[in-house]
Amino acid sequence: MSIKEIFESMDYGPAPESAGDALAWIVDQGSRFGHFINGAFTEAGEGFDSRNPATGEVLATLTQATQDDVDAAVAAARAAHPEWEALGGPGRARYLYALARLLQKHARLFAVLETLDNGKPIRESRDIDIPLAQRHFYYHAGMAQLMDSELPDRQALGVCGQIVPWNFPLLMLSWKIAPALATGNTVVLKPAEWTSLTALLFAEICQQAGLPKGVVNIVTGDGRVGEIICDADVDKIAFTGSTEVGRKIRQATAGRGIGLTLELGGKSPYVVFEDADLDSAIEGLVDAIWFNQGQVCCAGSRLLVQEGVSDAFHDRLRARMDKLRIGNPLDKCIDVGAIVDPEQLRRIEGMVSGAEGTVYRANFPLPEGCYYPPTLVSGLSPASPLMQEEIFGPVLVSSTFRTPAEAVQLANNTRYGLAASVWSENINTALDVAPQLAAGVVWVNGTNMFDAAAGFGGVRESGFGREGGWEGLRAYTRARGEPGALSPVEAYAGDSAEPQPVDRTAKLYVGGKQARPDGGYARSIYDAAGKLIGQAPIANRKDIRNAVEAARGAGGWAKATAHNRAQVLYYIGENLSARAGEFAALIDRLTGSDGGAAEVEASVNRLFTAAAWADKFDGGVRSVPMRGVALAMNEPCGVIGALCADEAPLLGLVSVMAPAIAMGNRVVLVASEPFPLAALEFYQVLETSDVPGGVVNILTGSHAELAPVLASHMDVEAVWSFSSSDLSEVIESASAGNLKRTWVNDGRARDWLNAGDARDFLEQATEVKTVWVPYGA
Ligand code: NAI
Repeated sequence: MSIKEIFESMDYGPAPESAGDALAWIVDQGSRFGHFINGAFTEAGEGFDSRNPATGEVLATLTQATQDDVDAAVAAARAAHPEWEALGGPGRARYLYALARLLQKHARLFAVLETLDNGKPIRESRDIDIPLAQRHFYYHAGMAQLMDSELPDRQALGVCGQIVPWNFPLLMLSWKIAPALATGNTVVLKPAEWTSLTALLFAEICQQAGLPKGVVNIVTGDGRVGEIICDADVDKIAFTGSTEVGRKIRQATAGRGIGLTLELGGKSPYVVFEDADLDSAIEGLVDAIWFNQGQVCCAGSRLLVQEGVSDAFHDRLRARMDKLRIGNPLDKCIDVGAIVDPEQLRRIEGMVSGAEGTVYRANFPLPEGCYYPPTLVSGLSPASPLMQEEIFGPVLVSSTFRTPAEAVQLANNTRYGLAASVWSENINTALDVAPQLAAGVVWVNGTNMFDAAAGFGGVRESGFGREGGWEGLRAYTRARGEPGALSPVEAYAGDSAEPQPVDRTAKLYVGGKQARPDGGYARSIYDAAGKLIGQAPIANRKDIRNAVEAARGAGGWAKATAHNRAQVLYYIGENLSARAGEFAALIDRLTGSDGGAAEVEASVNRLFTAAAWADKFDGGVRSVPMRGVALAMNEPCGVIGALCADEAPLLGLVSVMAPAIAMGNRVVLVASEPFPLAALEFYQVLETSDVPGGVVNILTGSHAELAPVLASHMDVEAVWSFSSSDLSEVIESASAGNLKRTWVNDGRARDWLNAGDARDFLEQATEVKTVWVPYGA
C-alpha cells in the first residue's frame, strides 16, 4: 500500500504486540497456579481453565479455593497484621513505593498479560490500566508516609477481604490493596475467576519487593470463594462488582461490626447540550461507552442529547462508530477488543435482542469469536429496560431532552448513581447541572477520567464508600481506642397515676407540625421513683412513612446556603439555652440522675459546633495529573433516619441532628426509647427557631420496631443507630434494599458528654461528589 493510498483510506495495517514474554511467564509457572498465601504459592489444586477470550485458547489452569485455603489466607493475614502496622507509615511507604516501581519495571508484561486474559485492547491496558495501577501505589506510598502525622488518631482495621471484578483486573486490585496496605491493614484478595493472571503476577511482584509474608494473600476461584471470604473472620469487606452481589454481601456481613464498601453498577448519563463542542463530545462518547467494550461500571451508557442537535449528533455518531476498529486486542491499532467471556457475550446478546427503539450496529464485519459490535439503540422511552438496566457491553442507548431541567430529571431517572458526564461550552450550564446530578462522580466536558487522588464511588444502588483520595483512605481506618460495649438502658416502671398539673398531650413532630400517632397509642413514662411524668406517643410504620415523606419534601434545605443553615443552628442553640433550667430539670427527672444541666450545656455547645462547621466542612480540590482539577464536594446524603441514644435523651438527639442538618440533610429521629419526653419538649424549641418544616422530624416509640421500617424505606439514604440495644443486624440487613449507608453501634461516637469527634458525624452526614472540571488548558 502506497503512502498516498494510506492517506486516502486512512486504514491502518496490523501492529500486533508480541505475546511471547507473557506466555513464557505462564509456562514458567507450569501453566497451573495455586494461591498466594503467607508469601508463597501453594500447590495447584482442582480448578478451572482461564482462557483468552479473543481466541478461546486456554492460558492457564487456576485453583478453586476451598474453605481451608481461605482460612489459611485469613490466618496468615491476621498473623502478619500487628508487625505490618507497627512498621509505621514511613516503613510501609517504602514497600508501596517498591511495588509501584516494580509495576513500572514490568509494565509491558502486565499489559500484555492483562490483554491476553481479559480481551481489552493493548492500547488501553498499556496506556490506562497499568499506568493507573502504578499511580495508585505511588500515591498511596505518599499516603503511608503521611499517615502518622496527618491521621494520628486513626488506626488500621485489621484484615481486609477484597473481591474484585474482571473488567479492570489489576487496576481494581490496586484500588483495593494500595490504600489497605498504606494504612496498616493486611489483605486477602480474590480476583475474578475469568481474569486472575495479573493478580498472580502481582503476587510475584510482592515477593520481589520483599513484602513481609502474609501482608498480601491472593486466593482464586468463583463466587463461592467470595462467599467464603465474606463469612470469614475479617474486619472489612471491600467489593467491586454487580449490584446484585453487592446486596448479598450487605446481607452476609450485616450485624458483624465489620467495615464494608461497595462499588457497584451504574447506568451513567452522558448529557450533551446543544452548545457543546459536538466533535469533542463524540470522541468523549467513544471513550465513555466503547472503552473496554463498555464493560465499565461508570460507562457513559445512556446518551441524552438536547433536541436541537440530536439529529446532527446521531448522524456524526453513527459515522464515527463505523470507523472504530474491532479485532485482535493485541493489535495496537484496535479500538474495541473481545468481550471478556462467551457467557458475558450471551448476556449482552440476550439484553439487546428484541429491544424496542432503533438499533444501529457499526457497519463493518465482525471478527470470529467473542466479539460484539459497537451498538446504538435510539428512540427509547425513559422507562424502557434498556434505559434502566446495566448492559455491561458496547451498547449505547439514547434519548433526547429539551431543557436543562428535563436533562437533570432524565439523567436522575435510574436506581443507580455512579457517574455522569456533562457537555456544554457554557460554564454556567455545566456547573449548574453538575450539582443536580445524582452521581458520585461528574465529568465536565470529559469522561472516564480516574486518578488515585480523586475519590471514586457511587450513591443510591451504585453502592457506598469511596476509593482514592483521603476519603478512600479513611475507609480503611478506624478511630484509635476500644469502643465501649452496648449496655441496654431500661425505662423506669411505676404505677402511681398522679394527675399532672396541666394535661398536655405530647405529640410526634412531623413536617413542622405536631402530629398524633397514627395508631392512637401512648405509653406512660415514669421517673426513678415510679411517679408518672407524662405520656409519650407510640409511633408506627405509618408515622415513619409520613415523616420520611415530610423530610423528602424539605429538599430545599440542601440548597440553603451553609451560612443560613448555621444561622438556624445558632438560633436553636440560643433558644435551648434560654430554657436550660427547665430542660435540665426534666432530664434529671427522666433519667434519675443529676446530669441534666451538663447535658443541656453540652447540647447547646453541640449546636454551636455544628453551626461552626456548616460552612467549613467544605471538601477540597484534588491535584490530578491532567488538564483539570477534581473538586471533592461534600454533599448531604439526603434523608437520614436515626435511632437516638437512650441514655442521653436530649444530647443524644441533638448530637445526631445538628451535624446532619448542618450539612444539608433532613432527619427522621426516633428519640430515646426509655426517656422520650425531652425530645418532645425539644420540638417546641425547633418551632421557635426558624427550622423549615420537614427538616427535622421527631418520633417516639420502640427502636426495635421502627428500626427495620426506617432501614428498609426506599426514600431514606442513610440510617444511624445509637440505640442502646443492638439493632445492627436488622438495620444492615434491611438496608440492602436500596443499599443505603448505615452507621451503627459506634461506641466511640457514643461518648456523648466527651463530645466524640465532630468530624465522624460530618463525614457520615456527607458523601463526596468528585466533579472533574477543565482547568488551565
Ligand atoms: P459479579 O458481581 O458476580 O462478580 C464480581 C466479583 O464478585 C467476582 O470476583 C466474583 O467471583 C465475585 N462474586 C460473585 N458472587 C459472589 C458472592 N455471592 N459473594 C462474594 N463474591 C461474589 O459480576 P459478574 O457475574 O462477573 O457480572 C455480572 C454483571 O455484573 C455484569 O454483566 C455487569 O452488569 C455487572 N458487573 C459490574 C461491575 C462493576 O464494576 N460495576 C463489575 C463486574 C460485573
